[in-house]
Amino acid sequence: MGERKLLMIPGPTNVDPAVLRELSKPTPAHTDPLFIESFKEALENLKHVFMTKRQVFAIAGSGTLALEVGVANIVEPGERILNVVTGYFGDYFVRISKAHGAVCKVLEVPWGKCAEPNQVKEALKEDDYKAVTITHVDTSTGVVNPIGEIGAVVKENSEAFYIVDAVCSLGGMEVRVDDWKIDACVSGSQKCMGLPPGLALLSISDRVLNFLEKRKTPVGMWYGDIKNWLPIMMDPSKYFATPPVNMIYALSESLKAILAEGLEQRFRRHHIIAEAFRAAIEALNIRLVADTKCRADTITAAYYPEKIEDAPFRDEMRKHGIVVASTIGLIRSKGFRVGHMGNVGQNDILSTIGAIETTLANLGCKFSMGTGLGAAQDRLVAL
Ligand SMILES: Cc1ncc(COP(=O)(O)O)c(C=O)c1O
Repeated sequence: MGERKLLMIPGPTNVDPAVLRELSKPTPAHTDPLFIESFKEALENLKHVFMTKRQVFAIAGSGTLALEVGVANIVEPGERILNVVTGYFGDYFVRISKAHGAVCKVLEVPWGKCAEPNQVKEALKEDDYKAVTITHVDTSTGVVNPIGEIGAVVKENSEAFYIVDAVCSLGGMEVRVDDWKIDACVSGSQKCMGLPPGLALLSISDRVLNFLEKRKTPVGMWYGDIKNWLPIMMDPSKYFATPPVNMIYALSESLKAILAEGLEQRFRRHHIIAEAFRAAIEALNIRLVADTKCRADTITAAYYPEKIEDAPFRDEMRKHGIVVASTIGLIRSKGFRVGHMGNVGQNDILSTIGAIETTLANLGCKFSMGTGLGAAQDRLVAL
């Protein structure tokens, strides 16, 4: 198979050659008028994907930087924050909050389940929180949280800023920043946005921008201080720190492709492919990590059947040209995770299911070959 591998991990995901070509273009000056136009256009298009009229940001860094920028700018040392944790990445917010001196109240939800709006409502009664953090899709479990409903609860029951991690959903599932009353929506480039890793993407509400004018203490990170970036995002001809010019070109290209496909159509494609994959896995009698009512359309985590171990499974998958990830955190190596987001198409998902069947058969599982593929094909006709 040589180097030809199909990347089916939950990020990075497969990048379209048209986007990759932008990375190999001669690197322009960040002051080049054509580059500045491309940056402006990318930011305008990014607003559509965040479904917001507010200010968006594209900064060199990974998703984790976006999480940190969101928390560090909003919370001041000693202030209280409610961290809703439904998996491994929910805990990132706890660690970041503590690193910036916040006092954390953690609302821990068992892995595989989503947070209920009522749980958040109850938690909000206990204290006055400066902010509430939550992960839209936790990549460790494949659970999707009801961000819109929880956003309404946060606004109705508190003054808290609402910070949402959309690293594993932006561009693949609906993220309605304005409708869902999200104050800081934070994401990255290497998942549903169809780009390589390297960009932290954010949408920041006017309420946050107003608050930044009256913050009592300096933001605990200079590179991540929103006030340093705001003039550049409003006018990319200005300078604060050199933008990753080729990545901005790539962002501009991928956003054009996303909007040309159409957001509704894109979400539908993700949904049908996710349904097909879940149907295949369940037809093979493999247990999914996420509860039925909260399964994300971008990633699926599943437990290994009895006697199947992580390393042999993934090694065998690799021999069939497919790269999948293992489960992490509390359920480390107990299962595998498949990312079906970004540029994923039906050929990719069918190849993955086919490889899963062959792998399981080679590792001694007994089932009727083609069971998963048939179940998936039944769903994929809707595409
Ligand atoms: C939901 C979620 N949040 C945050 C992160 C961290 O992003 P990055 O690895 O780009 O720093 C990830 C990475 O997989 C993620 O899936």
